[in-house]
Amino acid sequence: MSELPLIETSGLTRSFPVGGGLRGPKRMLHAVRGVSFRLSRGEILAVVGESGCGKSTLARMVLGLLAPTAGDVQLNGEPIERMKRLQRAAFVQPVFQDPYASLNPQKRIEQIIALPLRLQAKVKRSAIADRVRQMMSLVGLSETLASRMPSELSGGQRQRVAIARALMVSPKVVVCDEPTSALDVSVQAQILNLLQDLREKMSLAYLLISHNIAVVEHLADRVAVMYLGRIVEIGTVEEVLGHPRHPYTQALLASILEPDPAKRLPEIPLGATFPNPLDPPSGCAFHPRCPRATDLCSSDEPEARGLPSRFVACHHADS
Ligand SMILES: Nc1ncnc2c1ncn2[C@@H]1O[C@H](COP(=O)(O)OP(=O)(O)O)[C@@H](O)[C@H]1O
Ligand SMILES: [Mg+2]
Repeated sequence: MSELPLIETSGLTRSFPVGGGLRGPKRMLHAVRGVSFRLSRGEILAVVGESGCGKSTLARMVLGLLAPTAGDVQLNGEPIERMKRLQRAAFVQPVFQDPYASLNPQKRIEQIIALPLRLQAKVKRSAIADRVRQMMSLVGLSETLASRMPSELSGGQRQRVAIARALMVSPKVVVCDEPTSALDVSVQAQILNLLQDLREKMSLAYLLISHNIAVVEHLADRVAVMYLGRIVEIGTVEEVLGHPRHPYTQALLASILEPDPAKRLPEIPLGATFPNPLDPPSGCAFHPRCPRATDLCSSDEPEARGLPSRFVACHHADS
């Protein structure tokens, strides 16, 4: 029996009008361009790519916090725009990068954690209080912190609060947008282990946005690589990290990983120049940085080749 994917996006696109100033015309910044993927029950799909490639914009659309300019998101087969806010929130919850910015500084920890369940109708106060205690213990927060304010907690504790809050409504999916990037290196592993552990205990699926390949390798089942608003390669962790086929994925891995002769990754220097999303290159957006680029690459945008679950968008992926 084929189950409905928890999340299915098709041709998801988001542009922002920017600039304009006093007399300049408004221009369109294409942050996410035609992104299609599926997230299945219990799965961890990682999204990787350089800063500015559209990861957070994608996350916000999947959470229903930002409307797409084209394409759609379905949660368990239902178009997200037809779902009520609370119904959506009971299904998919966020954990953001910065636990300092994402917690209301004026509320006590127990109030912050309780909020998503308080918003759901007809839950008794005593049941909410019980659930808060349960979630705090699940994420490794001492009960004595319940009456504290966020400013009294460490970064790692605050991220545990954000995770406990996300789990209050027993969502099926948690969208984690760089959940450890703002934390000290020493606590990053603790939070990642917690996410790993909770995935099993709560049968969660994650859309895990990260630019840390080691994290992805450790946690994820599948990986989507984004470049300038598009998914250029997707597949299992073994496929994409072990046998990358898109020159961008190869360059990204070569720039991050220790040189590994067994992997035979070509030396493609990415340099610091990320193309301007207001003025994207013609054809394949990666062609100005790609050592394999030919005339075709500057004129024609490559189609995604392969299966929906394992594709590469490159004219020369097979050569
Ligand atoms: N609200 C907005 N208005 C204008 N541009 C935006 C807005 N949000 C994001 N962008 C732009 O969209 C692109 C993708 O941003 P983002 O999704 O935050 O990337 P990432 O999370 O991968 O770093 C960037 O060029 C960014 O400047
Ligand atoms: Mg981001």
